[in-house]
Amino acid sequence: MKSILVTGGCGFIGSHTCLSLLEKGYYLFVVDSCVNSSDQVLRKLKNLSIINFKLKYLKGDLRDISFLRRVFEEAKKCNKPISSVIHFAGLKSISESIRYPLEYWDNNVIGSINLFKIMEEFSCRTIVFSSSACIYGLTNQTFINEECEVKPTNPYGQTKVTIEKILKDLFVNSLSEWKILCLRYFNPVGAHHSGEIGEDPIGVPNNLFPYISQVAIKRRKELDVFGSDWKTIDGTGVRDYIHIMDLAEAHLAALEYLFDKKKNFLVLNIGTGIGTSVLELVKIFEKTNNCKIPYKLKMRRTGDVGSVIADNKKALAILNWSPKRNLEDICKDGWNWQKNNPYGFQK
Ligand code: NAD
Ligand code: UD1
Repeated sequence: MKSILVTGGCGFIGSHTCLSLLEKGYYLFVVDSCVNSSDQVLRKLKNLSIINFKLKYLKGDLRDISFLRRVFEEAKKCNKPISSVIHFAGLKSISESIRYPLEYWDNNVIGSINLFKIMEEFSCRTIVFSSSACIYGLTNQTFINEECEVKPTNPYGQTKVTIEKILKDLFVNSLSEWKILCLRYFNPVGAHHSGEIGEDPIGVPNNLFPYISQVAIKRRKELDVFGSDWKTIDGTGVRDYIHIMDLAEAHLAALEYLFDKKKNFLVLNIGTGIGTSVLELVKIFEKTNNCKIPYKLKMRRTGDVGSVIADNKKALAILNWSPKRNLEDICKDGWNWQKNNPYGFQK
């Protein structure tokens, strides 16, 4: 079975994707600096995939190129040369990126360039890259397809566009045949149904779903609903929420799609194509989990847009994949994780 390098494999999306890959029998090398995660998650992965737990964790930072070289060398030495990479590692907070732009350019872009250099050095040229729907910026279009203009409004989004561009350059100009898939995620939420792994934001959550979960567990008093005057079904913001395991499975499908290809470069939106408002999500969470989420209607959040929904037709047509879980599954699984782990991986 092929060996895959998963950068950022201890993080939210990385850990769930590792589980899908382990279940399929792949051998994994996980690289993470744990700047925004805990390696405790690996213990959970081991419990969840007892038979198939073929995973080697190497703690380190992508900006350390000699560390990266050692990872590829070690894989080769133990006769498991890395055939392909899923590249999650990166900083992801929009507000933080506005405050600390250099940190974001350094971490996300320099880290990625190092990774691509070492991949080239070891003739490993198959990669799935974590991009983001935020690169579309402020758009009036309700359903966003891959042809929509890319115009990010913050340094985080700029780093994602830049990495996509570097990958495109490699594809177009390299003498070697690169196989590249950039996945632009919409709003990944929820948790693995076991309740063993899930999203574990540090500090006050910026995003809606973990905030709702922390109100439900009474870590936060109430939810602030940012804006009730959007042109949406009930005035609150509409987003495309995708179950984290559907997203994990999209990575598996993306990787296996690339295995069968020759030279390739593709960008795909990964979402459900279904929009849900803040208050709709609150209601579904309350009903599914038989709890109350107190909330207050507040002013719009700076930089927000009313409605962002994926046009996911291209991904559905190209990948052997479609989202299988609905909002009830998202709320049930997300709550299962939160109530079993009120303080995430810490306690
Ligand atoms: P996360 O923070 O949970 O995971 C990212 C992981 O990368 C963390 O474990 C972190 O410690 C690690 N990391 C960061 N910089 C590193 C470096 N230089 N070297 C080694 N490890 C490093 O975030 P996530 O939600 O799992 O997101 C994964 C990827 O998907 C990120 O690139 C993010 O930008 C992108 N993305 C996330 C979302 C989302 O809503 N979660 C949406 C769109 C895109
Ligand atoms: C945010 C990021 C986006 C990133 C995405 C997934 C911003 C401006 N955008 O987008 O780049 O790709 O997360 O990580 O940060 N809301 C509340 N109360 C809250 C939190 C959110 O009402 O406490 C509302 C928002 O106004 C929005 C919806 O809930 O209407 C979803 O917000 P969020 O989860 O932050 O996701 P995005 O805004 O899509």
